[in-house]
Amino acid sequence: MNLRLIAYTGKGGVGKSVLSSATALRCAEEGLDTLVMSSDPAHTLSDAFGQPIGSHETKIMEHLWGVHIDPVDEAMRNYSTLMDYIVEIFRVKEIDETIAYELANLPGSTGAAALLKAEYYDSKERYDVLVMDMVPSGEALRLLYLPYLLGRFSRKLVKLIAPAADLGRILQPVTGMPMPSKKVIDKQLELLEQMEAVRRLLTDFDKTSVRLVMNPDTFSIMNAKRTYMQSSIYGINTDLAIVNKIMPDEVKDPYLTELKISQRENTEDAEKDFKPLPVKRLPLYSQELKGFERLRKAASDLFGDDDPAKVYFKGKPIEIITGEKELELILAARLASKEDVEVERIGDELIMHIQLDSGKAEVLIPLPAITFKYKLKGAKLINGSLHIKFGE
Ligand SMILES: Nc1ncnc2c1ncn2[C@@H]1O[C@H](COP(=O)(O)OP(=O)(O)OP(=O)(O)O)[C@@H](O)[C@H]1O
Ligand SMILES: [Mg+2]
Repeated sequence: MNLRLIAYTGKGGVGKSVLSSATALRCAEEGLDTLVMSSDPAHTLSDAFGQPIGSHETKIMEHLWGVHIDPVDEAMRNYSTLMDYIVEIFRVKEIDETIAYELANLPGSTGAAALLKAEYYDSKERYDVLVMDMVPSGEALRLLYLPYLLGRFSRKLVKLIAPAADLGRILQPVTGMPMPSKKVIDKQLELLEQMEAVRRLLTDFDKTSVRLVMNPDTFSIMNAKRTYMQSSIYGINTDLAIVNKIMPDEVKDPYLTELKISQRENTEDAEKDFKPLPVKRLPLYSQELKGFERLRKAASDLFGDDDPAKVYFKGKPIEIITGEKELELILAARLASKEDVEVERIGDELIMHIQLDSGKAEVLIPLPAITFKYKLKGAKLINGSLHIKFGE
């Protein structure tokens, strides 16, 4: 059985849990064996379906199961041992401090446990679809990095630590590496293999996609853009963006006029900026999205007659080429139709000024952490893609 993994992510409160639930419900009603998994300690799945869902797979209805990840997971204890060790290595070797920084900022255990669980379900071939309700993006993102980071380093690490602790002890004075005990090494190797498998699963465009949930406000849209760029950097596909809670037109209250206008503008901008990634809109309903009937309605408004589990889109909005002392970002330059483009860097954001037929447009691009230590050197359009150079 080929697992389809769909991960909903977005800023706090945008609607991740209810959209995960709605998607899972719809998949189940189409006859797909579906598990909806949340690493949210607030037990929101139970609220959405109006029935208790525990830390073991709980049957909700035919073809549908739910699970809340238990933060005190055995895997996590292994995971934290491993993290401590990796951070220690970075500290000793002083290598790649951007990555060490990301690692040092790893989130709490729940989300990582969720990823390990995802891989477990994939290997068990028990479900057709796994819908993951991810923790708010800031955290979720670092989780998405994790397999990538470990993927990059695991082979090196395995080589370093595999030839028994004894050899390591001999080498320690030379390499300056801290040496873990044999037991710790065995655990680590096992976990590294698992993380490799997680990485393979997450970076498989046919199996896994991230879906970005945002509300029609500039903050949550910016947050979604950041997630989009960053998951792409780490090789994970995003197949859909959803602008949720848009005030419907039938609301005529003059008090809300300005809000409605700004929501419409923000949504249109988001559609332009995310292009060619499909962006779906969902209205703000008059009631909370709770219970089967309302979830079903939301799913139907969202997917129409489409298969909710299909891969809506495959694309790489950003690619990074790293050199010795320089870095090149290649962005699929939406909007950019003319050679005339200027870029400016403000903090961790890049502002692209593009000359369009209709006038000047500005696009805000969040920069990945890896660019922070470089200076912006310039940018040019080559075959419709924007190449941005960074150097020392
Ligand atoms: N389109 C909508 N119309 C009306 N209410 C909505 C809509 N989308 C979400 N809600 C409501 O908004 C609240 C937040 O939704 P939800 O819990 O799914 O967000 P979340 O992104 O998972 O939040 P958190 O970051 O806290 O986990 C819930 O009460 C939900 O019922
Ligand atoms: Mg939630």
